[in-house]
Amino acid sequence: MAKAHFGLIGLGVMGENLVLNAERNGFSSVVYNRTYSKTEHFLNGIGEGKAISGAIDLKDFVNQLERPRRILMMVKAGSATDAVIQQISQYLEEDDLLIDGGNSLFSDTERRVAELESKSFGYIGMGVSGGAKGALEGPSMMPGGTKSSYTAIESLLTKMAAQVEDGPCVTYIGPGGSGHFVKTVHNGIEYGIEQILSESYDLMKRVCGMNCDQISEVFGMWNQTEELSSYLVEITEKCLQEKDPDDGTDLVEKIMDKAGQKGTGLWTVISALQLGASVPTIYASLNARVMSSMKAQRENAEIVFGPPHSSYFDLGSQSDGMPPLMDAVVLSTIASYAQGMDLLMLASREYNYDLHMPSIAQIWKGGCIIRSTLLTRIQEAFLSKPDLPNLIVDPWFTDQIKQRLPGLAKVVSVSADAGIPVPCFSSTLDYINSYKTARLPQNLVQAMRDCFGSHTYERTDRIGSFHTEWEH
Ligand code: 6PG
Repeated sequence: MAKAHFGLIGLGVMGENLVLNAERNGFSSVVYNRTYSKTEHFLNGIGEGKAISGAIDLKDFVNQLERPRRILMMVKAGSATDAVIQQISQYLEEDDLLIDGGNSLFSDTERRVAELESKSFGYIGMGVSGGAKGALEGPSMMPGGTKSSYTAIESLLTKMAAQVEDGPCVTYIGPGGSGHFVKTVHNGIEYGIEQILSESYDLMKRVCGMNCDQISEVFGMWNQTEELSSYLVEITEKCLQEKDPDDGTDLVEKIMDKAGQKGTGLWTVISALQLGASVPTIYASLNARVMSSMKAQRENAEIVFGPPHSSYFDLGSQSDGMPPLMDAVVLSTIASYAQGMDLLMLASREYNYDLHMPSIAQIWKGGCIIRSTLLTRIQEAFLSKPDLPNLIVDPWFTDQIKQRLPGLAKVVSVSADAGIPVPCFSSTLDYINSYKTARLPQNLVQAMRDCFGSHTYERTDRIGSFHTEWEH
């Protein structure tokens, strides 16, 4: 029997769809899952009639693959991934290639690349974005590891990936754990945009008194604009239209207001703090999830403090797309991308990833969760100025900020008056206002540090390090 071109371990929904994608693109496949009943279920169900076979154990799996073997693992990040690597390593031979397509912590991937490449088979840590549908129809993929390992799977990945006007949504990211690092930051941006859209929904509901259908229409309008046309705005429009089949009311309003998280947003913020990147909009979105999970405490506190006073504020007419609110959403979305890109540039220098920023923007234009028309502008910004210090000083983005800052400020002030939390909007306002302020008040922080701890300070008028006896 002819050997299969491609192997997949882990038949979760992402794994199932990725192997169907590979097979559709001409790569006969073999699948393995820890519980064989799941493999059977897949082969007798959506995998039926395809050039896909099942393996009973890892030895059988490896034997069914042509050499050099190309194996994609779609298993839970962390110890489950280490366990699979350990079990399969004994069967792998020179030039075989193991790819981790899960949301692994990038430092775990660094360690695995170093350990496994010394065993002479290749290892790629690859971020995969796009959810179940993306995995089947074409995801965005962020593979990192040694370049020769990537070259060995390039033809497979370029066929499987989403395609946009300037090519497939996959590229070699860089060495070590860079692929998973870029995916982590992608998710940090994803957290930011999800929270931004949720804040705008909350304001339309509670400040403007709009219902889900009306709010959905606004998202539909925003999705027609160059600044906001994106996958996340598109699905927000749809989520708000969905009705509870039991009683026909808005389903979104029945969902518990506690957001889950699997780690990538947290890792983005931890990395940013470690590398000295300023990511307040992304951090605010992470903190908003943490706060949302404190449901019982929030309920008690609302009894103590009373609900926010209900007040009506004008956030622009619905038929015009609520201009100030759109300003807030556009600038906060830009800030999320700007902060994520800034973090990537810092990481690239610190970890020698040699990231190519225009290519990262390019592979995010299709297939992934944060795909948007704005990414074309981001790609162009980094193409025209590879050493751009921050997206917001690119002329197109600067222009957006100049036009839309008053709208964002109005939204933050209205929210403060109404007692409605808008952590991403307010963090974005402070981020932009701080970034464009040549002189901040940290001179006084320096004075205090020197006063109580002799930490010294620099001066604006002389070179050197200074200390003053402040308390006479
Ligand atoms: C993607 C997503 C995906 C992620 C989920 C859940 O790009 O397809 O980022 O990989 O796992 O969105 O993430 P949280 O549970 O942390 O929100």
